[in-house]
Amino acid sequence: MNILIIGAGGFIGSHLCEEILNSRKDWNISALDISSAKIDHLLPSKNLNFYKTDILDDYGQTEEHIKNCDVVFPLAAIASPLVYVQDPLRVFQLDFEANLRIVKSAVKYEKRVVFPSTSEVYGMCGDEEFEEDNSNCVTGPICKQRWIYSCSKQMLDRVIYAYGIRDGLRYTLFRPFNWIGPRLDDIKNENNGSSRVVTQFLSNILHGKNINLVDGGSQIRCFTYISDGIDALIKIIENAAADRQIFNVGNPHNQCSIRELAQKILSLASEYDVFRENARTVKIVNTDSSEYYGKSYQDVSRRVPSVRRAEELLGWKPVVGMDDLLIKTINFYAEILKKDS
Ligand SMILES: NC(=O)c1ccc[n+]([C@@H]2O[C@H](COP(=O)([O-])OP(=O)(O)OC[C@H]3O[C@@H](n4cnc5c(N)ncnc54)[C@H](O)[C@@H]3O)[C@@H](O)[C@H]2O)c1
Repeated sequence: MNILIIGAGGFIGSHLCEEILNSRKDWNISALDISSAKIDHLLPSKNLNFYKTDILDDYGQTEEHIKNCDVVFPLAAIASPLVYVQDPLRVFQLDFEANLRIVKSAVKYEKRVVFPSTSEVYGMCGDEEFEEDNSNCVTGPICKQRWIYSCSKQMLDRVIYAYGIRDGLRYTLFRPFNWIGPRLDDIKNENNGSSRVVTQFLSNILHGKNINLVDGGSQIRCFTYISDGIDALIKIIENAAADRQIFNVGNPHNQCSIRELAQKILSLASEYDVFRENARTVKIVNTDSSEYYGKSYQDVSRRVPSVRRAEELLGWKPVVGMDDLLIKTINFYAEILKKDS
């Protein structure tokens, strides 16, 4: 099996590469990214070839790799709410335009695509649990620019689905619900809004800055440990039942409000030397979303997946609980900080 991972140097890509190299000795990976920092430890493997590539500049090389693979994971995207509101066209260019080109090449060369959709496509849907084929995709007005990410992903989902019907494209769409774990983001980056929520809070603690709860922090999310997510991806690759399906990949048992999350992280962090002092002084404060992200932000109050389809078709179930996944993640960052000090 030749797997092409575009964006292999990111959070999900690096864990997918690691798992494949550890457990599937006869698979080969072509890994494309603008940076290899998160997979440098894997580069000595003879089953992984890294190609430093910017898919916006060098499409010829990317297309060549698509021609030669069995399955392609187009993981390169901007997935940061601050960029959705500050530079929406950059999000459109990479997340939609560049990925559309990859999808079209997969159609042309008859390759299988495993595409990262997102829980964000459900937007402000009011369903108790989001279901892949029943829940509506509800976004806000055009002036709320944060929806450009959700719409870019949704449009690609629709294009991929249509290619499946018209041209027989073999695809699977997976929708991660707040996957977290080691290598998520760089917590040394001090800028508010530059990271995803768990790493943002850890970064705040590291730098002794207050933790901002956007609009009160009552928003509910379901946090999913990266090893559970990667387990689903391996099952998708290996299982013909995944063909032309959409899967929510999230942990409905790990529902947690952002306020509770902040409290948990502060309390857990105080157990570690590298965070202890600041964890005692950092405060949890409320902030207005228009101040934090800008006026074109709009939030999703509750986001819980139904994972029945992944259970039934893939035999997949998430197993890592909320406290455990936070401890594993904080352990990783504490180790790095200890090594660097
Ligand atoms: N992590 C999550 O919980 C989550 C949730 C929903 C959807 N997703 C989707 O999954 C995919 C992977 O997410 P992630 O968390 O690993 O993101 P990430 O930001 O960690 O990784 C993206 C990778 O793409 C690379 N990249 C960016 N621009 C590039 C370019 N022009 N050419 C080549 N490489 C480029 C980056 O260097 C980075 O390594 C994305 O499409 C994201 O939208 C992730």
